[in-house]
Amino acid sequence: MAKIAPSILSADFANLEAAIKNIAENGGDWVHVDVMDGTFVPNITIGIPVVGSLRKVTELPLDVHLMIDRPIRYVGQFCKAGADWLSVHLEADTEENIHAALRLIRSLGVHPALAIKPGTPAEMVKPFLQEVDMILVMTVEPGFGGQKFMYDQLAKAERIRGWLDVLNPECLIEVDGGVDKYTCPLCKEHGVDVMVAGSAYFKAEDRAEFVKFVQKPILINEDY
Ligand code: DX5
Ligand code: ZN
Repeated sequence: MAKIAPSILSADFANLEAAIKNIAENGGDWVHVDVMDGTFVPNITIGIPVVGSLRKVTELPLDVHLMIDRPIRYVGQFCKAGADWLSVHLEADTEENIHAALRLIRSLGVHPALAIKPGTPAEMVKPFLQEVDMILVMTVEPGFGGQKFMYDQLAKAERIRGWLDVLNPECLIEVDGGVDKYTCPLCKEHGVDVMVAGSAYFKAEDRAEFVKFVQKPILINEDY
């Protein structure tokens, strides 16, 4: 069964507690929290104290996506604030520092994840495959919600899934950006395990129904 991680980037920031409770009521699996620093991406969102406050009002896993430069400076604080999954971008520092950040995350009992931007070739993740619990394949340029899904990222996700099946089969693949009722089935067909959905979740007429649709397993050879 696929998982859905609604992104609170599309929620009302004046009422995040209501948004997060709404995600739980509608059957969402995780809460996706987008952290942006205005340098790695051209937008600024929320930081460590907000993650700490969200931790107090939900038992759902917090899937924290760091879109910040040199994340090693802050991963310890995000782990202590209550992240369950913590993604750092491969493009945000040297390979050595990204390895160190992922190790630090794991040492603090949090699931380490590696995120890649659309322009980053699949091969770049190879040195990290055995030390992460999730690879986040961005299906839009990070920075803003409500963008169009980049279909060419699906082949990349599927190639990475193939390598993981050999080297680290428990590792999940997550996609983020432009996931809706049209693109979600394609993601599942390409082996994606976790779908982040911001606008599609918060704008859905029936959020519970959208959650069930995303979670529904694909049936291979449905017509036969
Ligand atoms: C974009 C963020 C996404 C964003 C997705 O940089 O990482 O998590 O919330 O929004 P939608 O689903 O609207 O494309
Ligand atoms: Zn995100």
